[in-house]
Amino acid sequence: MKVLVVVGTRPEAIKMAPLVAALEARRDIFDTRLCVSGQHRDMMDSVIHLFGLTVHYDLNVMVHNQSVADITTKVLTGVSGVLEAESPDVVLIHGDTTTSFAAALAAHYHRAPVGHVEAGLRTHDKWHPFPEEMNRRLADALCDYHYAPTERARENLLAENIPPEQIVVTGNTAIDALLWAAKQPCSFDDPFLERAGADRRLILVTAHRRESFGAPFREMCSAMRDVVNHNDNVEVIYPMHPNPNVRKAACEILRGHERIRLVEPLGYLPFVQLQKKAYLILTDSGGIQEEAPSLGTPVLVMRDTTERPEAVDAGVSKLVGTKRADIAREVQQLLDKEADYNQMASAVNPFGDGHASERIAGHLADLAQNQRGIHA
Ligand code: UD1
Ligand code: UDP
Repeated sequence: MKVLVVVGTRPEAIKMAPLVAALEARRDIFDTRLCVSGQHRDMMDSVIHLFGLTVHYDLNVMVHNQSVADITTKVLTGVSGVLEAESPDVVLIHGDTTTSFAAALAAHYHRAPVGHVEAGLRTHDKWHPFPEEMNRRLADALCDYHYAPTERARENLLAENIPPEQIVVTGNTAIDALLWAAKQPCSFDDPFLERAGADRRLILVTAHRRESFGAPFREMCSAMRDVVNHNDNVEVIYPMHPNPNVRKAACEILRGHERIRLVEPLGYLPFVQLQKKAYLILTDSGGIQEEAPSLGTPVLVMRDTTERPEAVDAGVSKLVGTKRADIAREVQQLLDKEADYNQMASAVNPFGDGHASERIAGHLADLAQNQRGIHA
């Protein structure tokens, strides 16, 4: 079975790496090709390098401050060329990025079957997150195999009339990657990062969502500054996304404070270590909502909706919106109220057991055997 895996951004590469490894471990069944769109460049390349992945096609689409329409058209055309060259038996995409949606569309135009890893996540609000909610809905509509990370994701797909036989509940491959990463040795060049969490309570921050550009970002950054100003025993580390719309507000509002460290995006291993060291995480990231529960670190999500309600239900994450006063109040509560904090820190990871990739590879292997049976 020839499998074409398409990834474009940092989180896709992290979450597809264990699956690529699982497919490559079964070379008797799978001939695996990896196409990177290059929607992200430096942030994704470091992950490709970390996991030792072999890239067969690189579309190199990224430009500074790119538009979603631009990514879509370039990936659609680029992946179409790869499909023509390779004629894969199945294409695998991940999650909700524009690379994933455009690759699924390209595969559909080429009548190639598509498997969606991390299928079925929904906020049910088409503008939040933007454009991810529509990317994943459109991708699911185009796909033939749906690898749902949780039972809730399966229910979302069934509610959209996806046939039950096309859905496999696998757990999230994020946990496969995380369990490996958490065991790897890792050191920091920057002494501030090395000592993080040792003398003060560390708040780890990330933010990059398009729907929050502008005023909401300023609110989030102002909330962080308020919290640090009110609490001498708190420090912030904020690896800033390279998107220029994010950096402007972050630098203007947060730069220059002795207990706030604005840094470049971190490698996956150091970032996982910081998630472990953190007292709490403030983020709008999707993937971090999945990882932090496994590391026992509470997450405050700076958004009004989430496609990962499992973490909220498990008690490990909480939606705090994008308003300065709301964010500052919720952080303060976790700093002051030990019982509330302990409850969040002891919740259990609802996203998987670290064997999601094996399940997906197993499903594809069954398909390959059936194909062989049909052609025999
Ligand atoms: C993208 C995805 C988002 C995902 C996120 C993960 C879309 C529309 N957005 O958002 O769903 O959650 O990745 O991080 O698919 N840049 C660099 N170097 C990099 C990466 C980005 O300089 O390695 C800068 C470039 O100026 C680029 C900009 O960031 O144009 C935005 O990148 P883009 O992929 O469009 O958006 P993200 O916010 O990263
Ligand atoms: N991550 C990383 N370095 C960082 C910040 C995040 O390696 O400086 C990892 C994080 O551990 C998670 C993924 O990137 O696996 C999340 O990516 P991001 O928040 O950019 O995207 P999302 O998950 O929101 O799509």
